[in-house]
Amino acid sequence: MKNGKRTVKVWDPLVRIGHWTLVIAFFTAYLTEDDFLAQHVWAGYIVSAYVLVRLVWGVIGSRYARFRSFLYSPAKVFGYLKNLLAGKPQHYIGHNPAGGTMVAALLICLAGTAVTGMKLYAVEENAGPFAVAAQLMPTHSFSLVENANAEDDDENKVHKDLNFGHKVDKQAEEFWEEWHETFANLTLALVFLHILGVIVSSVIDKEKLVKAMLSGKKEIDDTYR
Ligand code: HEM
Ligand code: HEM
Repeated sequence: MKNGKRTVKVWDPLVRIGHWTLVIAFFTAYLTEDDFLAQHVWAGYIVSAYVLVRLVWGVIGSRYARFRSFLYSPAKVFGYLKNLLAGKPQHYIGHNPAGGTMVAALLICLAGTAVTGMKLYAVEENAGPFAVAAQLMPTHSFSLVENANAEDDDENKVHKDLNFGHKVDKQAEEFWEEWHETFANLTLALVFLHILGVIVSSVIDKEKLVKAMLSGKKEIDDTYR
């Protein structure tokens, strides 16, 4: 320990493992949207599980994982950014005010992407948590009879059978698809800003943020709050 420098534990394993799992799941979901629906949906469920767990952890988790420790007023966020751009960055052990705001924005947009994805999945495939139970589908018994006569190579009919005669509501499909795409792209834009923020902090602030997200530890001195 020299110049008042010491190493502290900042990010607990749930935050770290959760973050890198989220990174993989988010990009997998983004890149599989077109041709690999099963993989897309599974990656989306992993993102959804992460968001749910992180929301709970923000209340009951370790010190720096709690929302209380990194949600600041807009005045504090702008004050922090002004100082950063002036080359006088304030140092924080946990998320700085700008980073904390970004974390909240990311979690909100990820939740929006996940919920609209599940609604779209229900409308298109009658599957997922918002699917209408098969027994309640008015076309159920009719469609089974209809499908008994379906030809094996008729993809549409087989598809219909798996969905118990589910008919796609085109208007609802367009609506949820639009919102799902908007949320996904908004999240992607925030991710770029998030990565840019991490790079800027690492350069101007000389902070080893990525290393800390891997090891959980940060080297701090008396200027940190
Ligand atoms: C390779 C790309 C990425 C890098 C290098 C990276 C790096 C980081 C770092 C260093 C932190 C800690 C920031 C701090 O100390 O204040 C962080 C936090 C965070 N990042 Fe990323 N990130 C990446 C991609 C993503 C993506 C794709 C998402 C979301 C889709 C994301 C969401 C988050 C969230 C939610 C936190 C807060 C973690 C927590 O408090 O539990 N990151 N990231
Ligand atoms: C949270 C991460 C997710 C991301 C980043 C994401 C991203 C996307 C994107 C960009 C599209 C293409 C939209 C378009 O071009 O109209 C899409 C389509 C779709 N997503 Fe997601 N999504 C996510 C989660 C989910 C979840 C959790 C589900 C369902 C459980 C889901 C179900 C769907 C469906 C059914 C489609 C339409 C596929 C098609 O008709 O080709 N997504 N998603």
